[in-house]
Amino acid sequence: MSNTESASCDPNAVWATVCSHIEGLAIASTLVGLNRLGVFERLQAGEFLEQDHILGSTASGYGRTALRLLYRMGFLSLEVHSERRALSSAGRSLCRALPAYEALVVEADDGVFERRLAAAELPPDQLQLVSDHRDGFRLGRLLLDIRDRAQDLGLPPALPEQLNQEIFTALRRAGWANTDRAGRWRLSEAGSWAVRMAGQYRHVLCYRPLLQQIPDLLAGTVSLAEARSDRAETHLDRIADIRFSGEVYRASCGTTVSQMVAAMPLAALSHVVDIGAGDGTMLEALYRDIAPRAPGLVAVAVEPSLEARALLKDRFAAADIPHLVLDGDVGDPTGIARLLESHGLPMSSGLATMKSVMHDRAIRRNELDPQRTSRSQNCFIGAKGNALPAALVEADLVDCLAGWRSVLGPLGMLMVEAHTAPMTLPNRPTRGLVVALDATQGYSHQYLVEAEVHLDCCREAGFRVESRPIGEAMGYPTLTCAWLQPA
Ligand SMILES: C[S@@+](CC[C@H](N)C(=O)[O-])C[C@H]1O[C@@H](n2cnc3c(N)ncnc32)[C@H](O)[C@@H]1O
Repeated sequence: MSNTESASCDPNAVWATVCSHIEGLAIASTLVGLNRLGVFERLQAGEFLEQDHILGSTASGYGRTALRLLYRMGFLSLEVHSERRALSSAGRSLCRALPAYEALVVEADDGVFERRLAAAELPPDQLQLVSDHRDGFRLGRLLLDIRDRAQDLGLPPALPEQLNQEIFTALRRAGWANTDRAGRWRLSEAGSWAVRMAGQYRHVLCYRPLLQQIPDLLAGTVSLAEARSDRAETHLDRIADIRFSGEVYRASCGTTVSQMVAAMPLAALSHVVDIGAGDGTMLEALYRDIAPRAPGLVAVAVEPSLEARALLKDRFAAADIPHLVLDGDVGDPTGIARLLESHGLPMSSGLATMKSVMHDRAIRRNELDPQRTSRSQNCFIGAKGNALPAALVEADLVDCLAGWRSVLGPLGMLMVEAHTAPMTLPNRPTRGLVVALDATQGYSHQYLVEAEVHLDCCREAGFRVESRPIGEAMGYPTLTCAWLQPA
């Protein structure tokens, strides 16, 4: 494309590139961490190997999560009828690019990355993949900042005046910038699409503190347990995380949730309580939907994050909505019910809701039921970095849901939950979104299961389930919205 050409563009192609950037931001530190621990050396030496052999001294829970990500990306193959793994042919050529990923993660000069990438002599499709991964590091934050600035100031999106040459090069390579007649750099049509889509970078970028720690987590030299039990939450930028969740609600969930709530008998409802209320987007929308039908309705936000609670109080006070903001944990339904009761708002006369919170509970079950067979193909990490069996996590989910069932009223709960995707799905351009979600949630001890597994656990806990899929990555729903009524 010439510099001045206003190219016609395909938004789907732009979206595929954004997803690939996101994948790079999510996966680079995993590749580097595994390489530093000799994992690729062992894989290159052997044929099909057991996971424990591949991982050597790598911390088990994090290591298994890392291997699952490699498998998801097509770098590992599974031996038929066994759990043994080997490098695929894509995995073998990827090994030559590992020094380039090392340069990316340690933020070496761009020249170092480019020289190492050239030395890797990758086939064209892999060269494109690794280049996209690099461009995620160069462009993700920039595009998100351009989008936020344009939105906050109500201006058309524009490139900042001061940009370095590498960034111009990356933008031009993607076809996202060109020059006007006066020779000034500007966003191309495809670049404007990329800015519109740039909100999706926020998720992976807000988990950057965690992702930068992956090599140390894999080596077992740091423990995330402290960061996760510390209410300051050093593993992520919580305010950015809840902003992202609020944006997802507005973009993808609002219509479905409103439609489901419209079908509920809510005339005598005294309160709607949102567990893990985040920035309050969903709770405020629900309040506005329901209040005309339920005079005197109170919006109750239960939220363990101190920063989020401050934001929620400001939001509901500014909107003049009768509200209560409380501390609480999704894993303790009885405690939350008691707290509500003490404020004169019994759980049984309210509607409970939660979005993207159930998978962020601490696992309370410590015994595996030998009769239980697992269904989820995800990897799960315990508080000490150990690998948790899927059957234990699924049983724990049923326990937690059953705990909620015992405190809910006849209206039950409206639950929006995020999901991992089955490992059997064919590759799609949106693979990067699944890789990023699996990495950020998996490494931070969150317990995503597949949509079907989640809904079956709801039924097993004694709920009648009405559900709808929401969102899509790799052709699979990233979220479900379920009305859970005590059966
Ligand atoms: C991904 S955000 C979702 C926020 C909001 N529900 C939404 O979807 O817009 C997760 C929220 O759950 C809160 N959270 C995390 N762990 C929790 C727990 N164990 N119990 C209750 N809330 C929790 C977080 O502080 C955060 O506000």
